[in-house]
Amino acid sequence: MDKIAQLKQWIKESSRIVFFGGAGVSTESGIPDFRSTDGLYNQQYQYPPETILSHSFFIKNPEEFYKFYRNKMIAAGAKPNKAHLALVKLEQEGKLQAVITQNIDGLHQEAGSQNVLELHGCVKRNFCTRCGKSYDLQMVAESQRVPKCSCGGIVKPDVVLYEEGLDSQILEKSVYYISHADLLIVGGTSLTVYPAAGLVDYCRGRLALINKDATPLDGQADLVINGKIGEVLGEACSL
Ligand code: APR
Repeated sequence: MDKIAQLKQWIKESSRIVFFGGAGVSTESGIPDFRSTDGLYNQQYQYPPETILSHSFFIKNPEEFYKFYRNKMIAAGAKPNKAHLALVKLEQEGKLQAVITQNIDGLHQEAGSQNVLELHGCVKRNFCTRCGKSYDLQMVAESQRVPKCSCGGIVKPDVVLYEEGLDSQILEKSVYYISHADLLIVGGTSLTVYPAAGLVDYCRGRLALINKDATPLDGQADLVINGKIGEVLGEACSL
């Protein structure tokens, strides 16, 4: 049986599926990932992107942070692709219990997924660091230099920067769903950033990996499909 047919069969047999994904889920929507050869972290900048996207850099150089962030992290105009839509279908069929994503683009919700756990936050939510007032993505995208609140405070995106911790409630829910899943489908992630990548260890059911490139956890998986996740999930979910 070919690998996609095998995944299709497992999906048919499962009722508590969980999906855990990363930037590779959104590349077919035109958003570059981080660590592929053409990824964000392999382009040349004055500072390494992992430095720019850190808490201390945001505090010390907000103007430089926002120049990079507005240019590279806000994927205005990106639309959900077949991978996002296949997961919506599985959720509507009552088979998929949760989407756990490292992405901050909000495309899973835009596609129609209802139960989405955003481990690293979302660009659509922004708040004043002084008074806590909320602002939408448009305000940040259209701001010049550093977006400021009406109270004068600096507005910060609700995304997890390097040096910042993840939301403990979201982590706990993610562990719960993964440890109760009969099939964990992991896709479009290099599985190199923790604690997110460590979530795969809680899998007690079948583990299927869909990724263009090899990952450090391939040896742990029951099925590894190297291919484009939009095509693979589209076919496996009969989209
Ligand atoms: N189909 C399948 N796999 C793909 C596709 C695709 N269309 N496009 C890219 N990939 C794979 C790449 O081979 C790569 O292994 O997706 C993976 C993306 O890995 P990364 O770029 O490292 O992205 P991700 O794993 O999400 O990074 C995790 O790092 O910088 C932090 O917070 C950031 O959430 C991000 C975290």
